Amino acid sequence: MTDLLVIPSKSPLRGVVPAPSDKSITHRALLLAALAEGESAVVAPHMGDDNRSTLAAIAALGIRVEAASEREVRIEGRGLEGLRAPVAAIDCGNSGTTMRLLAGILAAQRFASTLIGDASLSSRPMSRIANPLRQRGARIEGRPSPKKAGEITAPLVIGPLPAPHVLSGISFDSPIASAQVKSALLLSGLYTEQPTTLSEPLVSRDHTERMLEALGVPISRIGSVLRLDAGAFSGRLPSFRIEVPGDLSAAAFVAAAAMLVEGSEVGIRGVGANPTRSGFVDAVRAMGARVELGPEGEQLGEPVGTLRAASSRLAATTLGGELVVRAIDEVPILSALAARAAGTTTFTDASELRVKESDRIAAMVRVLRAFGVGAEERKDGLVVEGRPDAPLSAAEVDSEGDHRIAMSAAVLALVAGGPSRIRNVDAIATSFPRFAGTLRALGADVRAVTS
Ligand code: S3P
Repeated sequence: MTDLLVIPSKSPLRGVVPAPSDKSITHRALLLAALAEGESAVVAPHMGDDNRSTLAAIAALGIRVEAASEREVRIEGRGLEGLRAPVAAIDCGNSGTTMRLLAGILAAQRFASTLIGDASLSSRPMSRIANPLRQRGARIEGRPSPKKAGEITAPLVIGPLPAPHVLSGISFDSPIASAQVKSALLLSGLYTEQPTTLSEPLVSRDHTERMLEALGVPISRIGSVLRLDAGAFSGRLPSFRIEVPGDLSAAAFVAAAAMLVEGSEVGIRGVGANPTRSGFVDAVRAMGARVELGPEGEQLGEPVGTLRAASSRLAATTLGGELVVRAIDEVPILSALAARAAGTTTFTDASELRVKESDRIAAMVRVLRAFGVGAEERKDGLVVEGRPDAPLSAAEVDSEGDHRIAMSAAVLALVAGGPSRIRNVDAIATSFPRFAGTLRALGADVRAVTS
């Protein structure tokens, strides 16, 4: 097991660094390339553990995958009907996105498949995708959740969809704003001639619809209602080339470190600037941070820019509603920033955090308290008492196997009164394998140590 030893920064963080490529966009690019016709190129894919799970899954479904170079994966798509029955259960590792998106595709196949995951993924709720997929005629069974009546978890046993049945259209009002639910329905919607209509309470990240649209799939939206008009779809996805933008969800940790360490000024190049993902930037701006994300280009429908951040005097605020949906993965690091803001910051509408890789509300409250910061859980969020002036207490905390908790704790440790130890940080490799190295490149003293 690996720990991070973090020495508080005495000098500013300075420099311009790349961000790891976007994890969400990489998942989608790999899956759509497998369903496209002919060879697609995914340039600069994210190759953390979660995306490796998706890559291994498409290979297990009979798709030829080739590393053309260190920076490029080529995928020989065999069309929507070209997947082959896997010979064994497909292991989605720690990745909810792999499991839920793949379930949407597998629900339409004439063969059966089983999806399994690690202990964390095997405790996460799957009814959110199983119920609507069943509504459109799919077979999908899970294990009854020991935590909640009526809920199911992995392993998921999916299909086969017996010929001549095909999936039906669906009009689904999702009770949660979830891009994974939305994507499972859109991907299954490629396999029917009837429309897929979905509404969500607030608009979740829209990478799947942007990419499908860029590939010629007829998709329209009005506010948070989305429609895939399968009757007007050719039934074929063309092969494509995409250079995956950097991951704002990873860049946020680097930007936050710069905001906290006195005198810092950093840039993170080539970061995805999709407005359904950039809630972090708006949230820190509301806290008074010096931050900028200027779009500079586009990749297969996705805007890309440079994220710049500098040390800032932060003020407390209230964060909820659509801002939280657009920053759902950034709430842990936002709560770390709230620890250094003047006043009390309240996070609401964030109950989804309880079913991420860990219960992130409970985990962050424990981490913040370990650093001497007052924090309280709420059912759908947390309250953080800022401690902007004196150094935080040095701490020894466990990440609970959650990458975003580990990185949030490491950033807090940069402004502690002495060295801190973040235990059990191997999971950082799921989303930001070079996290410690990136902070070191900017001047921080962050060491990986084996425990
Ligand atoms: C993701 C969607 C979000 C997010 C996750 C990645 C995606 O989950 O938290 O890290 O790539 O679709 P939900 O859809 O469950 O909110």
